[in-house]
Amino acid sequence: MDRIDKLLCATGRWSRREIKDLVRQGRVLADGRAVRRPEEKVDPSAVSLVVDGERVDCSPCVYVMLHKPAGLLSATEDRSQPTVVELLPEDLRRRGLFPVGRLDKDTTGLLLLTDDGDLAHRLLSPRKHVDKVYLARVEGRVDRSDVEALRAGLVLGDGTVCLPAGLEPVGDGSSCLVTLREGKYHQVKRMLAARGKPVAALHRLRMGPLTLDEGLKPGEWRFLTDRERAELAGLGDTI
Ligand code: URA
Repeated sequence: MDRIDKLLCATGRWSRREIKDLVRQGRVLADGRAVRRPEEKVDPSAVSLVVDGERVDCSPCVYVMLHKPAGLLSATEDRSQPTVVELLPEDLRRRGLFPVGRLDKDTTGLLLLTDDGDLAHRLLSPRKHVDKVYLARVEGRVDRSDVEALRAGLVLGDGTVCLPAGLEPVGDGSSCLVTLREGKYHQVKRMLAARGKPVAALHRLRMGPLTLDEGLKPGEWRFLTDRERAELAGLGDTI
């Protein structure tokens, strides 16, 4: 059991003092009833906390799905270039959310941001076999020989050995779906370039159980749903 003021404070959205005022003004509901004292204790895994009509996620960690636009770095800060965390509101940035893995500056699509280091580790470990699915537009057209070469596991020009990967031509083959279980530097671009089909545009659609929400426009984000979090939890220890 945890104090309500502690749980709300941990979201980074309000100070203890602000929470005291919110409670006094009857703006905080726990399981549908107005909270009387900020120090009241609740079960954080079961309670539904609502502030000003908005459900507040009081789990200790935060999980955000972002539709990364082109032109931003997958980093928390950079001296000269804008980063994806700049798309998040100040209260979330203060929590220290970071992107789980990197997409190149010009790559768009699904990016997960969290402050859960354990989950990030589990998602990125090649041993966990978490598939990442990319939609690539290429110069030229991918064909059966490319599909087979990726399935067998490519060795790149510099000797980098890639795990077997999935390749599925889309339409006339000028686009394709690439499925990876690892995340080497510029991996999709380097693999397809090695096949003589340089990538013209790259977009991530899936990462393990998470699929990019079609309702999110580039630059938009939302919290993961309870279901998505439960599915991520299925990858290993509970989150
Ligand atoms: N592979 C790449 O080449 N770039 C990305 O951003 C992601 C995977």
